[in-house]
Amino acid sequence: MGNNLLKGKKGIIFGALNKDSIAWKTALQAHEDGAEFVLTNAPIAMRMGEINELAKMCNAEVIPADATSIEDLTNLFEKSMEILGGKLDFVLHSIGMSPNVRKGREYGDLNYDWFLKTLDISGLSFHKVLQTAEKTEAMNEWGSILALTYIAAQRTFPDYGDMAQAKAVLESIARSYGARFAKINKVRVNTISQSPTMTTAGSGVGGFDVFLDYAHKLSPLGNASAEDCAKYIVMMFSDYTRMVTMQNLMHDGGFSSSGITDEIIGELTK
Ligand SMILES: NC(=O)c1ccc[n+]([C@@H]2O[C@H](COP(=O)([O-])OP(=O)(O)OC[C@H]3O[C@@H](n4cnc5c(N)ncnc54)[C@H](O)[C@@H]3O)[C@@H](O)[C@H]2O)c1
Repeated sequence: MGNNLLKGKKGIIFGALNKDSIAWKTALQAHEDGAEFVLTNAPIAMRMGEINELAKMCNAEVIPADATSIEDLTNLFEKSMEILGGKLDFVLHSIGMSPNVRKGREYGDLNYDWFLKTLDISGLSFHKVLQTAEKTEAMNEWGSILALTYIAAQRTFPDYGDMAQAKAVLESIARSYGARFAKINKVRVNTISQSPTMTTAGSGVGGFDVFLDYAHKLSPLGNASAEDCAKYIVMMFSDYTRMVTMQNLMHDGGFSSSGITDEIIGELTK
């Protein structure tokens, strides 16, 4: 059930690969809450065609775009404004990929061409999205732009590899571009740091099952689900959060503020 929090608002949602994707759940929730939007993903990710199912459910159009290509992004923003009949109120960047992580490369044996790809896809693409939104004058006043991140930007987690650097870049871009976009037309830019979640990107990280369980036990509220994240994103797109900008917002059931919990003590004293 929605609360019409996004009634009359228009936007673009990047990154719905399949029904597990955080972007997929966000699209469903935003639709429930009255938003109209365009769905997009990398052309290669559309081969399975699952995004068309989602598009039907949300009454949305799909425009392919590789988020590292300025040409694709310009076409996406211009076409989206045409389709939606006006400027945008929200954009979700829900994109991440590391060839080094995917191919299991050790942190001491990284392929640097792949490292650059990781940074481009998972970090710089956020700058490209923001810069294209600015150049195409796509955003309405008081718009909201969000990217998803992970606490590995601040703390080390084995097997997260070069994605840790990409997330640090992503969060820094949100601060720098947030300062700029606020002055242009009061658009806010934030990142949401989500609990580990069982998705295609998440399960690419080695030992993910064990880690999910550990994070759950160290989070007083437990891990935040993708559905919970979708609701938080909708709130951040709504008019109830107009003065929140340049923040990295923890959405993790308390994980980031937790030293140890009874559940972890229980595990260690077994
Ligand atoms: N799953 C987790 O544990 C977790 C935790 C914290 C943050 N996140 C972040 O959430 C975001 C969404 O990931 P998810 O967990 O829903 O997984 P997902 O695999 O469903 O989504 C990742 C998306 O990135 C897209 N993508 C990859 N390369 C692209 C490109 N060049 N251009 C456009 N799109 C491209 C993929 O097609 C896919 O749709 C990512 O930024 C991820 O790092 C995930």
